[in-house]
Amino acid sequence: MTPFLIAGARVIDPSRQSDGVADVLVVDGRIEAVGRNVPAPEGARRIDGTGKVVAPGLIDVHVHLREPGQEHMETVASGATAAVAGGFTGVCAMPNTDPVIDNQAAVGFVVRQAIRAGKARVFPIGCISVGQKGQQLAEFGEMVGAGAVAVSDDGRPVVSSQLMRTALEYAKVFGIPVADHCEDPTLAHGGAMHEGIVATRLGLKGVPAAAEEIMVARDIVLAELTGGHVHLCHISTRGAVELIRRAKDRGLRVTAEATPHHFTLTHEACEGYDTNAKTRPPLREAEDVAAVRAGLKDGTIDCIASDHAPHHYDAKQREFDDAPAGIVGLETSLALGITHLVETGILSLPELIARMSTAPAAVFRLPGGTLAVGAPADLTVFDPTRTWTVRAEDLHSKSVNSPFLGTTLKGQADLTAVGGRIVFERGVDKSDA
Ligand code: DOR
Repeated sequence: MTPFLIAGARVIDPSRQSDGVADVLVVDGRIEAVGRNVPAPEGARRIDGTGKVVAPGLIDVHVHLREPGQEHMETVASGATAAVAGGFTGVCAMPNTDPVIDNQAAVGFVVRQAIRAGKARVFPIGCISVGQKGQQLAEFGEMVGAGAVAVSDDGRPVVSSQLMRTALEYAKVFGIPVADHCEDPTLAHGGAMHEGIVATRLGLKGVPAAAEEIMVARDIVLAELTGGHVHLCHISTRGAVELIRRAKDRGLRVTAEATPHHFTLTHEACEGYDTNAKTRPPLREAEDVAAVRAGLKDGTIDCIASDHAPHHYDAKQREFDDAPAGIVGLETSLALGITHLVETGILSLPELIARMSTAPAAVFRLPGGTLAVGAPADLTVFDPTRTWTVRAEDLHSKSVNSPFLGTTLKGQADLTAVGGRIVFERGVDKSDA
C-alpha cells in the first residue's frame, strides 16, 4: 500500500473539534500524522489538497443494497462503488432483500460480498423478525456474531408493540440499536404520498403525518420501558422531531436520522406524478422540512442517512400508485447537505461532517468517524465549492431513481480512502478507481 500525503487541505475532524489547513499523512493504512509541514516519507504519493476539504470518511447508516435477490437494482459491489464515489467509507445495509437477511449465513454473505468488492466497508443490519413478518424475533446473537451492527425490519414498521418491546430488551444484551421504520400501517394503508393539498389535487390517497408520529411516540415509550436503544429511521414530520426532542431532553436512549430528500423537498415534488419523488415516509410540507433542518441543527436528529433505495427504471415507469417507493442517495447526499444546509447557513461545514460521519459512527458504534493519529485511514477528500449537475450517466449505482436528476448542486467527493487504500479517485479512469 503506497503511503500518501494530502498537502494543504482544510482538515475538518469533528471527533477532535479541529478545523484548519493541514497536511494528512497516511502510512500502512493508518493516519500517521496531521499537522503543518508534515514531511512525506520516501516513495509517498503527494496529493495537492489546496481548496479541498479532508474529512473522516462519511458513514451512511441506512442504505439498501438489494443483494441477495434483486441484483438488477443494485448489488453489494455496485452499491459500495456508489458509496465511495459519494465520499462514503462505510454504509449499513438494510436487510429487506430477497430473501431477507434474518440469519447468520445471510449476514455472512453480505460481509463476504463487501470484502470481495473492496470498496466501502459494509456493515449488515439483520432483521428484527424472522422473514420480516413481524411475528417471531430473529436470532440477534448469531447475526451479531456474523457481523450485524443493528437490527431493523425497515421497509415495514414493527406493528406489534410486544415484539418491539422484546426486540429492544434482546438487542440491549448485544449493545446494538433497534432501527424502526415508523409508520402506523392502519393509517398509512393505501397511501402513495403525503396526505395534504397536493395529494388531493393529484387524486392520490395520502399518508398523514400522524402515521409516523404515533409509531415514534410508541417507540419512545418502549425505549423508556426497556432501557433499550431505539433508532428512528428517516424522520419526516414536525411532530416526530418534537417528540424526539422531548425524549432526548428526558435522557432516553433514542437516536434518529433524516434523509437529504426530507430536508430538501416537499410533497410538491410529486406534482406531475413524478414517481422518482415517491418514497416512504413521503415527502411532506415546508414546515416539516424546516423542522427536520432545525432538528439536524440542534442534534435532535443525530445523523443524515440517505435511505439509498434503488429501484429499476421499468418499475418506476408504472403509474404513481403502483410504482415502488424509494430514492437513490449515496452520490448526492454530500452535495445536498452542502447546497441546502451549509450554503443556506443552517449548518457549518464541520457540523455537516459531524452529522454525516462522527455521529453515525457513534450512534451505530462503528469504526471510523475520526482522523485521530493511529486510526484506520478512512477519509474523504472533497471540493466544497465545485458545482455539478446530477446526470444519470455519471452515477455509479445500478439504479438512477432520483428526483434530483438535472439539478445543479455544490460540493463533490474527489477521493475516498478506506483503511489507507484509495478506492475512489474522480476522473482517474472510467470506473474512477
Ligand atoms: O422509500 C422507501 N424505500 N422506504 C423504505 O423504507 C424502504 C425503501 C425500499 O426498500 O425501497
